[in-house]
Amino acid sequence: MDKTVTLSVIKADIGGFVGHSGVHPELLEKAKGILSGSPLLIDFHVTHVGDDINLILTHELGRNNGEIHQLAWDTFVACTEVAKKLKLYGAGQDLLGDAFSGNIKGLGPGVAEIEVVERKSEPVIVLMADKTEPGAWNLPLYRIFADPFNTIGLVIDPNMHGGFNFEVRDLIAHKKIIFSAPEDIYDMLVFIGAPGRYAIKRVFHKANGQIAASSSTQRLNLMAGRYVGKDDPVCIIRCQSGFPAVGEVLEAFARPHLVSGWMRGSHSGPLMPVSVTNSCPTRFDGPPRVVALGFQLAQGKLIGPQDMFDDPAFDRARALCNEIADYMRSLGPFEPHRLPLDEMEYTTMPLVMSKLKDRFIDLRLSKTKS
Ligand code: 13P
Ligand code: 13P
Ligand code: MG
Ligand code: MG
Repeated sequence: MDKTVTLSVIKADIGGFVGHSGVHPELLEKAKGILSGSPLLIDFHVTHVGDDINLILTHELGRNNGEIHQLAWDTFVACTEVAKKLKLYGAGQDLLGDAFSGNIKGLGPGVAEIEVVERKSEPVIVLMADKTEPGAWNLPLYRIFADPFNTIGLVIDPNMHGGFNFEVRDLIAHKKIIFSAPEDIYDMLVFIGAPGRYAIKRVFHKANGQIAASSSTQRLNLMAGRYVGKDDPVCIIRCQSGFPAVGEVLEAFARPHLVSGWMRGSHSGPLMPVSVTNSCPTRFDGPPRVVALGFQLAQGKLIGPQDMFDDPAFDRARALCNEIADYMRSLGPFEPHRLPLDEMEYTTMPLVMSKLKDRFIDLRLSKTKS
């Protein structure tokens, strides 16, 4: 009997090395040390993309399990101590509370989890991004699960031809809706084309209801009148046999799209597919990166990883990203390189506005000709 296994990917930025570019090896060693001593896990893999530590965990305790979330939390807390000792940049930045209270959601770290009965073969891809936001998965998830020009399986595989259901979250109003593809795609695109607010949380196989993909979408918090909480996201995707082929998942990243989150979380730039080794973003703290690690699950063991974008076939995508990055950078402080006012992570606008408030003349009240 094949196991029911939960794959949990939990990530946090708990200190950058150097600045916001990477993770210090001592933190990764610390995390490995803690996880290897845990009796809760079947297996684990510790990795990073840019300055974010990603814990890839398998176990039998299901999604939203307090013990697993506690383990991840404790791991991040222990790593934060190392980060503080090394005075790494923004040590503990993603650990918002001091106290863990049963579920890691809302405390800062990002979480994506799927619970599956392992198939005869269970290939999964774990996508991890830096310098962007959860809505960054909208376009690739649409391509992977709804666009036959990306995923030929939607046309020629009888097990996929019925399509997929998309659970879309409104990150501001805290609502969710299920769209059925292909019938609802025009309606769905109205929403997911606005990735700063609407994000695809999960995708399900329509015919059998099985989970196909899950992302670390979290709600946005209102701070100083603006929504913040953009979080370098992760996403798990099941592949083959009724799900998209591994190559159909990766193909969605061959034509880079623009995402929010570059430099100070306040700029737009192309999402560059890279290997783990090339995942530290240094040019203007970017451009944003995505890493794809492939695993075969075998009775919960993580057979892998295979570093999927470590392939010269993605050289052209990376070259295009560099060209787009040159162009976007040439715009300097102007939109659309700089994000619109309500989407920037921080801004001097209130400060500058209050300094200049007496110099603004209200044209509706002014009687003098101007
Ligand atoms: P294989 O014939 O190598 O199993 O590949 C099937 C497939 O779906 C590749 O995209
Ligand atoms: P991170 O969200 O990856 O920490 O990056 C923040 C930043 O300001 C980069 O310029
Ligand atoms: Mg950082
Ligand atoms: Mg980061």
